[in-house]
Amino acid sequence: MKIGSISENLNSEKRISITPEVANKYINLGLEVCLNSNYGSHLGFDDRKYKELKVEILNDSKDVIKKSDLIVQLDLLDDDKNNLIKENQTLVGVFNPYGNKEKIDDLLKRKINIFSLELLPRITRAQSMDILSSQANLAGYKAVIDSFAKFEKAIPMMMTAAGTITAAKVLVVGAGVAGLQAIATAKRMGAIVFATDVRMSSKEQVESLGGKFLTVEGSENLETESGYAKEASEDFKKKQEELISETLKKIDIVICTALIPGKKAPLIIKNYMIKNMQVGSIIYDLAAAQGGNTASTEIDKTVDKNGVKILGERNILNKLPVSASNLYAKNLFNFISNLYDKDNKRLKINLKDEIINKTLLK
Ligand code: NAI
Repeated sequence: MKIGSISENLNSEKRISITPEVANKYINLGLEVCLNSNYGSHLGFDDRKYKELKVEILNDSKDVIKKSDLIVQLDLLDDDKNNLIKENQTLVGVFNPYGNKEKIDDLLKRKINIFSLELLPRITRAQSMDILSSQANLAGYKAVIDSFAKFEKAIPMMMTAAGTITAAKVLVVGAGVAGLQAIATAKRMGAIVFATDVRMSSKEQVESLGGKFLTVEGSENLETESGYAKEASEDFKKKQEELISETLKKIDIVICTALIPGKKAPLIIKNYMIKNMQVGSIIYDLAAAQGGNTASTEIDKTVDKNGVKILGERNILNKLPVSASNLYAKNLFNFISNLYDKDNKRLKINLKDEIINKTLLK
């Protein structure tokens, strides 16, 4: 059985799905690996590295699609490549099934097996495959690093002969995977960190990282059985608005990460709140691509609103594509190992397995 992957559109996606380390793991598992030339060269993984491992390198990416039983990617392929996929070939990636319904329906009609990994259940057995966690973790880290780099003051408290510099104050909105990493990174660099979330279970996690949790008074716990957030009631939103609006007056840097699966990101920081922030403050909106947690976020732009800089990118992971690819490729490998029937050398789509059932698009 052959697994293949082709270059993504490098203007929007720099991550890759098969690193040399993971190519070797597939080969040890009994698969053949096939890539197009220069597949990983932008990340320092040149063709030679893959060839040494006995990976087949083809000049034309279309040939990779035609020859592979299993194709692993980040995004859906362009139409000219999609049209080459045939019945019973399998496609694995992060395909945004709600946003790409038409394209996916077309592939399903042609009896192509499609697995989309953002649908993985958050169960213990799936943790090593959890692409949302591995990528969000890096995003939380990088948002803090980029915000601190833009901030024109020092972050930690410094006591010097010339006087004392006070520590920067950071607010993290949404304490899920990205938010918790943002808290840990900001703390490590000496900031005073506050955080808020609608899921009460996150309070303990925030506090264990040394953050101060801001609780919306009298609020209900808005956590679903699968561990995600539910949309807040109007009453909750009003109380949260008052709390955040007051807090922002003393905050230097805000990292926004609040998301609700399958919905537009909640609008949490309104323009009147930004007006009350100190000049020179920074907001990094990691929810930018899902509509943004602030009213003024513009994708891939730095917006200056009364001296407050608002940053937000479509894909912050393009700024650390080597680390992100290493983790993504390993997540994929763990997913495929679970799907691959080693004895019969084929994929086994066992719908009784929750991991396989939930990720298979139907
Ligand atoms: P996410 O990316 O969907 O959302 C980010 C955060 O925003 C969440 O913590 C959510 O509660 C919060 N949020 C949503 N609306 C908000 C609002 N209006 N105000 C403030 N915060 C708001 O979630 P993520 O980070 O992917 O995961 C959420 C949780 O799932 C984790 O913290 C964890 O408890 C659980 N999880 C479990 C795993 C497992 O394998 N058992 C693996 C990964 C996560």
